[in-house]
Amino acid sequence: MLLRIPQVLQPDELAQVRQLILTADWADGRITAGSQSGTVKNNRQLPEELPAAQQARHLVSVALARNPMFVTGALPKSVYPPLFNRYGGGHDTNHFGNHIDNAVRTHAATARHVRTDISCTLFLSEPASYDGGELVVQDTYGEQRIKFEAGDLVMYPGTSVHRVEPVTRGERLASFFWIESMVRADAQRRLLYEMDMAITSLRRKDMAQSVPGSAESSEVVKLTGCYHNLLRMWADV
Ligand code: NI
Repeated sequence: MLLRIPQVLQPDELAQVRQLILTADWADGRITAGSQSGTVKNNRQLPEELPAAQQARHLVSVALARNPMFVTGALPKSVYPPLFNRYGGGHDTNHFGNHIDNAVRTHAATARHVRTDISCTLFLSEPASYDGGELVVQDTYGEQRIKFEAGDLVMYPGTSVHRVEPVTRGERLASFFWIESMVRADAQRRLLYEMDMAITSLRRKDMAQSVPGSAESSEVVKLTGCYHNLLRMWADV
């Protein structure tokens, strides 16, 4: 499931994150690449131990945790602390060729393992401010070319081959990270997500028609129960 989550960061948070990371010292992006992806990776990355990276990561993490669409789409068990990268800005050949992310990431500071069920990119630059830099994700419907508004996030299955196109003008800043989900299989997560969205919309319709303070319809109660029983069957916590 490829999911767009709009406005994960509010404009003031976006400005804060950008200011924090733009004034920090960047390193070669190959610091987190595996041996295959290291041969196709060419960008810059913010070393995660820098205070600016820690503060920016905190802002992103708080924004993710309060976002209901993120939580229901990912059903996160464990989130790899968000990283930051940049392409372009005078580094003409910056891009990241086709690869699949490593299946397990180990966080250096905590030695914690995260299985990468879901890959995420949070866009931090306005799309009009740079050319190229699309995230291209290959799925069964063909290639999806993704370039969202600053503050928007895309999540896609960690199993996908993907790349970032060269940035030919301006600069592309982004945060990227991985999620180990309580529900490992993408198809099951998708069913749960669609069911949750449908129940939420049904509940809204019910509330609009009912007397304030009255109980939910028995259908909504039953469907909500089915959602939780499916989650109970599939979740690994
Ligand atoms: Ni990747």
